[in-house]
Amino acid sequence: MDPFELGRLPFRGVLLGAAAAALAAPQALAPSVHRLLARSLDLQRHQRQDPRGRENCTSAQECGFSHSSYLLVFSVLCCLGIALCLVTSVTVEWTGLRVAKELHSNLLKTIILAPMRLFETTPLGSLLNRFSTDTNTIDQHIPATLECLSRSTLLCLSALGVISFVTPVFLIALVPLAFACYFFQKYFRVASRDLQQLEDSTQLPLLAHFSETVEGLTTIRAFRYEARFRHKLLEFTDANNIASLFLTAANRWLEVRMEYIGACIVLIAAVASITNSIYNHLSTGLVGLGLTYALMVSNYLNWMVRNLADMEVQMGSVRRISALLKTEPESYEGLMSASQVPDGWPQQGEIQIQNLSVRYDSTLKPVLKNVNAHINPGQKVGICGRTGSGKSSFSLAFFRMVDTFEGRIIIDGIDIAQLPLQMLRSRFSIILQDPILFSGTIRFNLDPESRASDCMLWEALEIAQLKSVVKTLPGGLDAIVTEGGENFSQGQRQLFCLARAFVRKTSILIMDEATASIDMATESILQKVVMTAFADRTVVTIAHRVHTILKADLVIVMKRGIILEHDKPEVLLEQEDSVFASFVKADK
Ligand SMILES: Nc1ncnc2c1ncn2[C@@H]1O[C@H](COP(=O)(O)OP(=O)(O)OP(=O)(O)O)[C@@H](O)[C@H]1O
Ligand SMILES: [Mg+2]
Repeated sequence: MDPFELGRLPFRGVLLGAAAAALAAPQALAPSVHRLLARSLDLQRHQRQDPRGRENCTSAQECGFSHSSYLLVFSVLCCLGIALCLVTSVTVEWTGLRVAKELHSNLLKTIILAPMRLFETTPLGSLLNRFSTDTNTIDQHIPATLECLSRSTLLCLSALGVISFVTPVFLIALVPLAFACYFFQKYFRVASRDLQQLEDSTQLPLLAHFSETVEGLTTIRAFRYEARFRHKLLEFTDANNIASLFLTAANRWLEVRMEYIGACIVLIAAVASITNSIYNHLSTGLVGLGLTYALMVSNYLNWMVRNLADMEVQMGSVRRISALLKTEPESYEGLMSASQVPDGWPQQGEIQIQNLSVRYDSTLKPVLKNVNAHINPGQKVGICGRTGSGKSSFSLAFFRMVDTFEGRIIIDGIDIAQLPLQMLRSRFSIILQDPILFSGTIRFNLDPESRASDCMLWEALEIAQLKSVVKTLPGGLDAIVTEGGENFSQGQRQLFCLARAFVRKTSILIMDEATASIDMATESILQKVVMTAFADRTVVTIAHRVHTILKADLVIVMKRGIILEHDKPEVLLEQEDSVFASFVKADK
């Protein structure tokens, strides 16, 4: 195990020192208490036999023996032990909780500020695991394992110390046993770590298959594939059980070996102490003490190695979270400070796109190549093109969601690359291709910052053709929206997203296939209403159904990341061989 990750956490030096001292103290007391008992017994025996030769005395007073001083020290040591146990538990839990809290809040901060690329390249399940399983391990298991590991190590060392004190010759025999123990634990830790990982990795497909089966139950029943799915579930369960069976077997393997070492320790301690007591008159109390400790060593050794292996596996959670913490956040700062940006920017909504090249990652090919365009204030622009031609990527470039590695976008005289990110994103509205609603109320979904009045919310709903739907819902604006907006149809969700954009009334609105799931009649009403409500604002509409952009002021046709055609729709329609004209023909 690498002491590293905990070692890198800010406050650990003192905390871990305190925790270690608190852990060591109760264990260090145990041998002292037991030695005291052994001495007390010896003295008692000695006094019974010796002074004045009164062998048959029955009470301490008769023998002239006094327990009082021993009892006092014994009681003080016991009380100290109890108090220190409490200090140990509290310190370890407190240290663990502080570390877990710090890691969790840093992780949350990193994920919230992480670039979109992280979410595209990291499976959601793995991110959820960092927040659930790994955080749970750091929260609950690592402090307990650390406590057990330190306790079993210290108990083991103190037991060996006591045996060596009683019979120093035992130290010589300890060397080969320590070597044997070292090799056993080394062997076991590798196997245990791999088996634990195998158990974890075989559990994920099992859970995924189960949830997939439950979600797709209707389809499975329709195709009568129940048996196939049941069989697959049993296969995954078997794979997972095999890993846990082997893990249990590995634990038994270790236990047997540690029992062997323990038995050797008992044998050596017994032979050495009995020989010592015969030839060097070692007291019986100390012989008993040595043997008692020798009997316990195998148990301590076993727990020590198992805890070490557990700790190693659990530190994997810290390692995985630390790796995620290294994610570079999006660059939220801009060359311009917030105070340098005019208050109502962008007021006109004039957009100049100069030589714009965009990619999703520095390792990927550009998805927009040297795009140039000029959109006048208040113009209604329609963008069309085949699937994958770069329309959505174009809209994302306005929000700096993609890597603009060449060229620039200038809005009302300001290069957007220089603006603080938060400010840039708060000044435009975009309606994404996938409508997203959050669980809560309609009011929360339309106006998460609670800035708009009810009147403004109803007005936005009216523009989005949703007023009548919301009026019939119980609670009106406070009607419940379930997770992902599943209590509304796909088209209604798109309309809610439109209404959300209308509430903000920014001077630039970008709609990425915002009406794709809406029926033709509603769509055409919507187009007209949007054109009226946003008459003086710049609206960029990305559309598959080209008839929705026939009335636009400017049409941009895209193909494989470049602008193929760029003019008024009437002009493009007049050119018989234009791509736009062919799209319009195909759409009829
Ligand atoms: N998250 C992503 N990571 C990497 N490449 C991407 C990503 N999203 C899109 N692309 C690539 O960028 C190109 C343009 O995609 P984009 O989504 O902009 O197309 P589109 O014109 O909006 O298509 P559609 O009409 O289907 O919505 C495609 O070739 C696609 O493979
Ligand atoms: Mg798209």
